[in-house]
Amino acid sequence: MELMELIMKRRSIRRYTDAEVSEQTLKLILQAGLLAPTSRNLKPCEFYLVRDRETLKRLSGAKSAGAGMIADCAAAVAVFGDAEKADTWVEDCSIAMAFMMLAAEEQGVGSCWVQIHFRTDASGKEAEENVREILSVPEKHRIVGILALGTPSEAVAPHSPEDADWSKVHRT
Ligand SMILES: Cc1cc2nc3c(=O)[nH]c(=O)nc-3n(C[C@H](O)[C@H](O)[C@H](O)COP(=O)(O)O)c2cc1C
Repeated sequence: MELMELIMKRRSIRRYTDAEVSEQTLKLILQAGLLAPTSRNLKPCEFYLVRDRETLKRLSGAKSAGAGMIADCAAAVAVFGDAEKADTWVEDCSIAMAFMMLAAEEQGVGSCWVQIHFRTDASGKEAEENVREILSVPEKHRIVGILALGTPSEAVAPHSPEDADWSKVHRT
């Protein structure tokens, strides 16, 4: 698929079938994240791939709302940045997540970014802390988000060129 077609077709998918996503497909998606640009090429991103159903269910409760789809997805990638390695860990991890979303789309895999950074669970505990405990992640790794992945069981209309809001472009 052409890149612009992928950009149009990629939508947040929050309902998935029971189908597995193959290891080979997951590797292609992760490869896109691993090859994304990083400031000064410091590569601070750490990718935690989760396929175990019980762990996915636990991750879906890491924050108070907006993470429920993780319980039903085929796999999730929790993206952390090594804050000791680069002060641009948020930017670097965000780009990696965007690259993975497009790679997933190309593979026919639906994805949804789940915000974890700055979010809390119902008791007010930091969602990042919950994810760190569930996945045994060291303190120096700071989370940006979780990418839920799975075969779509919902059809979301692609974006069209008309959806682009050109008032956001300022010519000076
Ligand atoms: C930084 C970021 C955080 C997001 N967090 C969530 C989230 O926690 N839960 C969720 O269901 N969707 C989340 N989304 C998906 C957005 O709601 C979605 O991208 C937006 O509504 C536009 O829809 P589209 O992705 O289909 O184009 C997030 C997207 C981004 C970029």
